[in-house]
Amino acid sequence: MQQKYPPINPRFPHFLHGADYNPDQWRATPEIWDEDIRLSKSANCNSFSIGIFSWSALEPHEGKFDFDWLDTIFDKIAQNKAYVVLATPSGARPPWMSAAYPEVLRVGADRRRILHGLRHNHCYTSPVYRAKVAIINTMLAQRYKDHPALLVWHISNEYSGECHCLLCQKKFIEWLMAKYENNLDHLNMAWSCDFWGSRFTEWSQIESPSPIGETVRHGLNLDWKRFVTHQSIDFFKAERAPLKAITPSVPVTTNFAGIGLNFDMWKMAEQVDVVSWDSYPLYNDRAEMWKAGAETSFSHDLMRSFKHGKPFMLMESSPSATNWWTVCKLKRPGILKLEALQAVAHGADTVQYFQWRKCQGGAEKFHGAVVDHCGHENTRVFKEVAKVGEMLSKLDSIIGSTSPAEVAIVYDWENRWIVEDIHGARNDKKEYLQRVLEYYLPLWSQGVPVDCIRPTDDMSKYKIVVAPLLYMIHPGVAEHIETFVAKGGTFICTYLSGIADPNDRCFLGGFPGPLRKVLGIWAEELDALYDDESVPVAACQNGASGLSGSYQATLLCDLIHAEGAEVLAHYDGQFYAGKPAVTRNSFGKGSAYYVASHNDERFYNDFIKGVVLSTCPRKAFQVDLPQGVTVQTRTSGSQEFIFILNFTHKPHILNLSDACLIDVETGISVSKEITLKEYDARVFCFSS
Ligand code: GLA
Ligand code: ZN
Repeated sequence: MQQKYPPINPRFPHFLHGADYNPDQWRATPEIWDEDIRLSKSANCNSFSIGIFSWSALEPHEGKFDFDWLDTIFDKIAQNKAYVVLATPSGARPPWMSAAYPEVLRVGADRRRILHGLRHNHCYTSPVYRAKVAIINTMLAQRYKDHPALLVWHISNEYSGECHCLLCQKKFIEWLMAKYENNLDHLNMAWSCDFWGSRFTEWSQIESPSPIGETVRHGLNLDWKRFVTHQSIDFFKAERAPLKAITPSVPVTTNFAGIGLNFDMWKMAEQVDVVSWDSYPLYNDRAEMWKAGAETSFSHDLMRSFKHGKPFMLMESSPSATNWWTVCKLKRPGILKLEALQAVAHGADTVQYFQWRKCQGGAEKFHGAVVDHCGHENTRVFKEVAKVGEMLSKLDSIIGSTSPAEVAIVYDWENRWIVEDIHGARNDKKEYLQRVLEYYLPLWSQGVPVDCIRPTDDMSKYKIVVAPLLYMIHPGVAEHIETFVAKGGTFICTYLSGIADPNDRCFLGGFPGPLRKVLGIWAEELDALYDDESVPVAACQNGASGLSGSYQATLLCDLIHAEGAEVLAHYDGQFYAGKPAVTRNSFGKGSAYYVASHNDERFYNDFIKGVVLSTCPRKAFQVDLPQGVTVQTRTSGSQEFIFILNFTHKPHILNLSDACLIDVETGISVSKEITLKEYDARVFCFSS
């Protein structure tokens, strides 16, 4: 049985419920600070994330510091028995710094240095920036190390982007020299430099990719992205060093901006004590809202998976409208709770918002906030926030529990990068995440818990591993998959798999390269379809792996030969009519499926349902769910929590068959059936 994880900071074994707070914006009206403290109590909030963009207020002139206002805020929060998630301020530097030290300003891929403005746009290499960050971070840590309110470090804000300045170019070359052991021939080979006659004869000839220079040397593109990951982490480590030295027991995080970041988030996640992220789904009241729900669930699953099941922080979410959506829709009543409980269902041990008090001016003055411009608590949004806080205060027993999954989906940055960099197939549709989600959605709809993994991760605890578009195969990965399948695992992969090595050099001798043995097929050609074109795919025998009747293939069709694999479906059109479209290879005690084409939604539903039926991975609940309703679970050593989430604007009745549950929030027992209201979100445990 899965054990519990300790709370994020053992000093506070409860759900953190709070918001990004910018008291520095209200220094001229400190009475508002007291009002904020009063209001936070009515909102059932127990934490504030502060200091995120406070460098200008903390160091208004170079070397002249002002911590008085922050001291006051810390004390007020502590007096209220609440906590601080303290940010380092590197996400937005003061204008004086950019003016005095232009090297801190990022240079774009087009080799133009940016002007001062916005935020999150510094050079990660600049020695000046690193020195300035070290000073301010050290001062913050020294000043608040013994303060009772300090709970978690929030390093910077939403690291992202890259810099192409000369300092970064120099570091890139040093990184390459180390990687290729000072041997330029190795680099020339890895990057296929004999193609278009481009052999480097000096290291100094190498530059980062650029729209005014090299864009299509895929080995270079990949190494540049790996370097950006390395350099972002190196900068993070420099930020973290004084915090760890001075406050070793305070956990450190950095808030991730979604799951599409340009660096390898698996690697960054290894560096934090607790993963945190900012979630801004567009949940409207349209019929397809449940798809946005499932996509957000996937992101939450990824956050939990980064640390192999360890609970994470929902660092930011909007209390209502998000000002950068195209249509800044208000959250319908109930959606706030649904979003909060969804995060918890997938492993969040905090529910935090952006922003506490709506800013009076600036770009985010129309972004949702707990306290609106009216300045009081008599608002719909405030009351909903307070209710979420009340609910969370009853869920202490969930803290530290995790989600037990027997299905894993591969979500891998190296594969994402290379699939999105491809020249060929469908150049206009390089949607790695969408392709992954097509397999995730039917699992979500059936209430099957899912972990995310890398191709190199341990697969032994899973019954099913799904690896869409596993284009790049690192040495050892094919053998790793073979072992998993031979021992009884079910492996699913798709077209565009087993194509190239880690330098994007194609495997010779037939695709899917090293996966050919386990999949029992040979992929000879790949056809691309126009948007208005499709090719029928016919199930070979009704019911085989859930497939029946005819489906439509779109986008890409791999033309494959079965080499020992059983054919489950075949193309029914085009010059490849009759060729296999879905295969299953028995390998040792397990099976390896190959889905040769991109298919319609009904295909994914039927296929995944069939595979789930034949392998029976763990599910909380053997109940048929209406479309748009999901069930997720968290377990600790002794207890299992069941979350039922309705992502539709319709009520539903769930038949419980024999299960008898207790609503954790109300303590009321339910049996036979559960009535869900529109957007309902409930948490239950089994009655003993
Ligand atoms: C991001 C940032 C916040 C804020 C929100 C608005 O997540 O971290 O500072 O800008 O977006 O949605
Ligand atoms: Zn730089």
